[in-house]
Amino acid sequence: MSEQKVFDVAVIGAGPGGYIAAIKCAQLGLKVCCIDEWKTDDKAAPGGTCTNVGCIPSKALLVSSGLYEQITTSASKHGISVGEVRLDVPVMMARKNKVVRQTNDGILYLFKKNKVEFFNARGSFVMTTDNGYVLNIGEPVNEKIVARNVIIATGSVPRALPGVPFDEKFILSNTGALSLSEIPKNLGIIGAGVIGLEMGSVWSRLGSKVRILEVAPSLLGMADTAVSKEALKIFTKQGLAMKFGVKVENIEVSDGRVSVTYKDSDGSNQEMWVEKLIVSIGRVPNSATLDAANVGLKLDDRGFVEVDDECRTNLPGVWAIGDVVRGPMLAHKAEEEGVAVAERIIGRKVPVDLNLIPSVIYTEPEIAWIGKNEQQLKAEGIAYKCGQVPFAANGRARAADETEGFVKILADAATDELLGVHIVGACAGELIAQACQALAFRATAEDLALICQAHPSFSEAVKEAALAVNKEALNI
Ligand code: FAD
Ligand code: NAI
Repeated sequence: MSEQKVFDVAVIGAGPGGYIAAIKCAQLGLKVCCIDEWKTDDKAAPGGTCTNVGCIPSKALLVSSGLYEQITTSASKHGISVGEVRLDVPVMMARKNKVVRQTNDGILYLFKKNKVEFFNARGSFVMTTDNGYVLNIGEPVNEKIVARNVIIATGSVPRALPGVPFDEKFILSNTGALSLSEIPKNLGIIGAGVIGLEMGSVWSRLGSKVRILEVAPSLLGMADTAVSKEALKIFTKQGLAMKFGVKVENIEVSDGRVSVTYKDSDGSNQEMWVEKLIVSIGRVPNSATLDAANVGLKLDDRGFVEVDDECRTNLPGVWAIGDVVRGPMLAHKAEEEGVAVAERIIGRKVPVDLNLIPSVIYTEPEIAWIGKNEQQLKAEGIAYKCGQVPFAANGRARAADETEGFVKILADAATDELLGVHIVGACAGELIAQACQALAFRATAEDLALICQAHPSFSEAVKEAALAVNKEALNI
């Protein structure tokens, strides 16, 4: 026991939740280590799903494919004609891989700078002792350590369809969908959620015929209905073919192609043949490798680590954050929880309000929201006012030829306090920052409407929608 290193905090997982938690703990003066098993090309690759096969590589490919689409379809509208445009997918992938590696290395640098000891191996619970929790650090480190506090940040993994494992050659999870070396002529996607839409956009822009099968009766059930209706109209115009209310029955790979048989919403039997199939039907918590039973850590029946509002598990000193616990599976939610837990370990009280976690879908146009949507307010019986302004009424949007979509703001009918902001359109992912600040400060629609915004800017559409809440819009 005496040879074992003792830490104030051990963080298991170096995704956006874990690496940020470890750095924050170190900055608060705690002796901390972070254990993460991810390797790329045999090199430590901290950053988790987000850095390696999630947020960062998907945004890199969205930018590359967006640029290709602008050159091939939009440039001519501006009087710019280009000659033959050639696509080099391996170069596009190499750029994406470079961005990922820079991010991995950046995290390794931050660990060094902040004196976080990093172990590139699997971490698991061994036993509880009077000094804290004994953790095993697996191959190739093969070491046992003791930690007074443990932060579990082991994230999530893609959910497979029953009996259809990912082979990453024909049946792709996000990992395979982000690493294709050629553009498939036909691409099928099961699940019109966030990954389905983002990955569908990437490959559709690059020339694939994309067909998406979705079990739900409509697009993006978690978004405001007006936003999802507008988004469906725009995506359909862009050539993304989506079917709703579909029941997938069988998937088979034969002769280098994938056959998907399914029942359409009208009950008729259908078959779809594609070169590649992305299955993006949600993600499941990654808790199986923790050996939770060795210390009696409580998981729920789906494998999520059970936590209270402050990310405390059933074990004293053991915390869990990010995708492996309840709440939205988003990188910034994991980060907020990581910082809050570090502060709680030293006795500070820090709240994280899950109602104030923004969502952004990085399609073209972008979709972003924060707070409650109209259907939630109706269901909860909250009286509200609504202001909605189309981007067509915004000068900057017209100059940029980005007039699709709108900003919709919901405020309390009696107090005018902002309750939700929903945007579909250009720059939605940046514009939502105004709303995040306003909701965090519990601003009213009038407060937001009184702020001067630069002209011409997309931000003026937010101001205009805030004016519209109280029927004072000037440009519609
Ligand atoms: P993760 O990032 O999953 O990290 C967990 C880490 O723990 C991994 O490195 C794993 O190897 C390691 N680990 C697990 N078990 C062990 C163990 N026993 N020992 C050692 N290490 C272990 N979110 C956004 O907010 N914005 C986006 O644009 C966005 N885009 C996405 C795109 C895609 C394609 C996908 C799949 C996800 C995207 N997400 C996005 C979601 C985001 O990636 C996750 O919410 C986020 O990564 C969760 O962070 P985390 O720290 O909880 O876990
Ligand atoms: P998702 O939950 O966003 O969407 C899954 C979709 O699949 C849903 O519409 C669901 O109804 C559908 N579905 C489920 N079972 C099905 C079946 N058997 N047949 C057909 N459709 C089925 O999950 P997704 O897209 O896999 O992404 C996982 C998570 O990763 C997201 O929820 C999000 O938290 C995160 N993410 C975030 C991004 C962002 O913030 N921009 C980008 C990508 C992922």
